[in-house]
Amino acid sequence: MVEIVHSLDESQRVHAGQIYYEAFRRKLQPLVGRPDATMQVLSAGLNLDMAIGIRMDGELLGLAGLHSREGIFSRVALSDSVKHLGFLGGLYAWAVLNLFGAGANCPHNELRIAALAVNASARGRGLGSHLLDAVIEKAHFDGFRAVRLEVVDTNTGARQLYERFGFSVVATYSYPIPKSWLGFSRDHVMIKRF
Ligand SMILES: CC(C)(COP(=O)(O)OP(=O)(O)OC[C@H]1O[C@@H](n2cnc3c(N)ncnc32)[C@H](O)[C@@H]1OP(=O)(O)O)[C@@H](O)C(=O)NCCC(=O)NCCS
Repeated sequence: MVEIVHSLDESQRVHAGQIYYEAFRRKLQPLVGRPDATMQVLSAGLNLDMAIGIRMDGELLGLAGLHSREGIFSRVALSDSVKHLGFLGGLYAWAVLNLFGAGANCPHNELRIAALAVNASARGRGLGSHLLDAVIEKAHFDGFRAVRLEVVDTNTGARQLYERFGFSVVATYSYPIPKSWLGFSRDHVMIKRF
């Protein structure tokens, strides 16, 4: 049975951090290294009230991390970063992970999807689409005027998914980094207005 959960509870924190890290490992590992420690740091910094989860037969398999005037899904504390990664490594990771988690700004009347992630083993079965439906429904219910997100230029699968849901590209940013490093060199801002 597939079930949407609005906000996750503490017992799901570590698992949510794993899903988040694994979905974005391609970008995070070259930046920070030390996957296990990074996962712990990310898990500790998740705002579980700003997540919508999807469970199948009771198991958490995916999540949408949200950002709005109400809060942000991921914000790493310097103390957690230093605890797990040491002083210099922790300081660096704190800056990088917060930049990654915060992403673009979020206008007051819009709901931003800061992360959409489904376990690799469960992809292609409609869970990402259920999560998008749930985010859009929440945005309507809470009175937001639009949902926004960013997708990197090389993630054409996700972009197609968003286009099917009525999102369109409103801006594109280029970064002076080689595509081979983090797997992208541009990202697109996509918006679905109501
Ligand atoms: C994007 C993501 C959440 C989609 O979840 P999902 O459960 O597979 O989504 P659905 O089953 O509802 O939809 C599948 C559609 O997603 C798209 N898609 C997104 N990423 C894809 C990928 N890596 N491979 C294949 N299709 C992908 C395709 O359009 C696909 O449509 P199709 O089944 O008709 O080919 C999931 O692929 C994921 O976690 N990816 C890694 C993290 C990521 O890239 N997040 C988005 C960042 S903006």
